[in-house]
Amino acid sequence: MNTKKYYITTPLYYVNDKPHIGHAYTTLAADVLARHLRSRDIPVHFQTGTDEHGSNIEKIAREKGIEPKAWCDGISADFRGLWKTLNIKYDHFIRTTDPAHEAGVQAVFEKLIKSGDVYLGSYDGLYCRSCEAFYDESELKEKNCPVHGKPVEHVSEETYFFKLSKYEKALLEHYEKHPGFLSPRYRAQELINFVKSGLKDISISRTKVAWGVQVKSNPKHTVYVWFDALLNYATGAGYNPDGAGPDFDTLWPADVHLVGKEIFRFHGVIWPAMLMALGVELPRKVYAHGWWTINGDKMSKSRGNFIKAEDVVQEYGVDALRYFIFREVPFGQDGDFSMEAFKRRYNADLANDLGNLFSRLMNMAAKYLEHRMPEKPEGSEIFSELSSWTPGIQRSIEELQFGDALERIWQAVSRLNRLVDERKPWELAKKDPAALKPFLNEMVWCLRLIAGWIDPFMPDTASKMQLQLGVGKTQTAGAEPQKVPPLFPRKQEEKDKPKDIRTN
Ligand code: ME8
Ligand code: MG
Repeated sequence: MNTKKYYITTPLYYVNDKPHIGHAYTTLAADVLARHLRSRDIPVHFQTGTDEHGSNIEKIAREKGIEPKAWCDGISADFRGLWKTLNIKYDHFIRTTDPAHEAGVQAVFEKLIKSGDVYLGSYDGLYCRSCEAFYDESELKEKNCPVHGKPVEHVSEETYFFKLSKYEKALLEHYEKHPGFLSPRYRAQELINFVKSGLKDISISRTKVAWGVQVKSNPKHTVYVWFDALLNYATGAGYNPDGAGPDFDTLWPADVHLVGKEIFRFHGVIWPAMLMALGVELPRKVYAHGWWTINGDKMSKSRGNFIKAEDVVQEYGVDALRYFIFREVPFGQDGDFSMEAFKRRYNADLANDLGNLFSRLMNMAAKYLEHRMPEKPEGSEIFSELSSWTPGIQRSIEELQFGDALERIWQAVSRLNRLVDERKPWELAKKDPAALKPFLNEMVWCLRLIAGWIDPFMPDTASKMQLQLGVGKTQTAGAEPQKVPPLFPRKQEEKDKPKDIRTN
């Protein structure tokens, strides 16, 4: 038997528009967790991808005058391109237009028609085109969609229903027995209340949407995009009710589905009910993080409030972005993205605290340790204290408390900066050369710890540091004695700059 892999997923992003910082956020979170686990020799499977069916996408493609599939190919490639730019290492990129996925969706549909959990009826209700979701009158905000604030439509048509109502009790029992399933805790109650208030069967096929997976036994119906897309987590791991692929056993159940809070209900209520209907084990956790706004406003192209990750990366580097989004806001809560806050953290935390510490110490190490990697320091108070922080930092990452991990790491950076200021190694070099070497030894080893800690967040920076610190090589500390290039070159103040990143 193969060992179970730790299976991490992100939502499948709609290909209705180009990716932005919000999409990057979830995928980067998955990447941080995946990198961390891999570094601990835990086998990981990280899946992301694109959600390509439905009326929205069909409409956009038609407007552009191209076939839906050709449109999807283009935007899906943009997502993959951004993940490459952001140094995201996923194991599988699934598209809902992949033939294996489509076959899986069709087989699931037929299986559930046979078991009676999917049945034909007619739907009469309110629908938000942007969400591709149905709403109850009571859920609307001032008669509009609660997510988009746009008018909903009255829809009336023949449709297949999924017997969601049947799973009300089983879902509540599951939440009760597995308190970590709906995470974070402060977002769980809303879902529990929703289920307690009574679940209705949901419409899961459309006769008026051509761009979708056809129902095999009744091809005038296409499968509702959400029912289609949610199945990716299983089909991408090889699931098919007519016979699962060889990987399914090693991947399933998923360990964590990372999602934004606006789609928590789909993942915490509908998806587990679908799995119950299929007799498939439930995922271990659904984690709903908060939403980024831009300068206080909702991020959206139509509002011209849109930060392209590529622009930030071009100006500040990938690692600065990877650092900022997890340091600025606790993972789970809402946060605001502003270039002012970004620049402040860049200069203070990265250029100054970490960058200066590193270059000061490496320049001295190169000179006074003569490029030799020192032995692990015996009896170093600071090194043994900081070493004892490792399990706590690891735990924070495993609990998805990325901000806590970074805060702790920067506490260590501050401690080292203070120590350097107190001991003044540049003075020791003149006054007490015998004390200098052991001090630098300690500092080199502390920096090695820090490089290891930041690796899942800032892999390029960690590699640069490790190269200088002789990690993975023998006996070279400070490869370039005269000038260690700064990890994060300081950025000028706003007024001195010719151009800045625009939010459009
Ligand atoms: O909902 N802040 O796709 P989507 C934080 N296709 N995260 C954000 C964000 C923001 N401002 N904007 C987007 C869909 N996200 C469906 C999912 S899954 C089977 C189908 C992230 O393109 C966050 O993860 O609208 C959110 O849940 C997701 O992108 C929505 O992406
Ligand atoms: Mg959305």
